[in-house]
Amino acid sequence: MPIVRFGVSIASSLLRSFDQFMEGKGYSNRSEALRDLIREKLVKEEWQGGSKEVCGTISIVYDHHGRELPSLLTEMQHRQRKSIISTTHIHLDDHNCLEVLIVRGKSNELKRMGDRLIGTKGVKHGTISLTTTGKDLS
Ligand code: NI
Repeated sequence: MPIVRFGVSIASSLLRSFDQFMEGKGYSNRSEALRDLIREKLVKEEWQGGSKEVCGTISIVYDHHGRELPSLLTEMQHRQRKSIISTTHIHLDDHNCLEVLIVRGKSNELKRMGDRLIGTKGVKHGTISLTTTGKDLS
């Protein structure tokens, strides 16, 4: 892959902030930091955009005492078993559970599944984190 150089015009204060951000993240040079930011943005665009194959995690925190909640969540996951590669359940305290699903499939379907799980009554918090190998981005 050929490497190209390009000039960027930027306000000095914005560049200062960028340098501080870079330092905080442990980057040794601007090019590397900028490449990662661009990739991050493009990957996000890719998985938000449509039906590409992606992978990632869906995390949910819920109180397992919720009357029908645990069986409802399990039922939903059984229906989506083709997209769920693995599930880890951690008992956080007497009430709360953390469940992390490792998922793979079409981005829009995974997003829909995550939204549905997180939106289920009794689920306190959740995140969807999708990524790709970035093979189309290089
Ligand atoms: Ni539990």
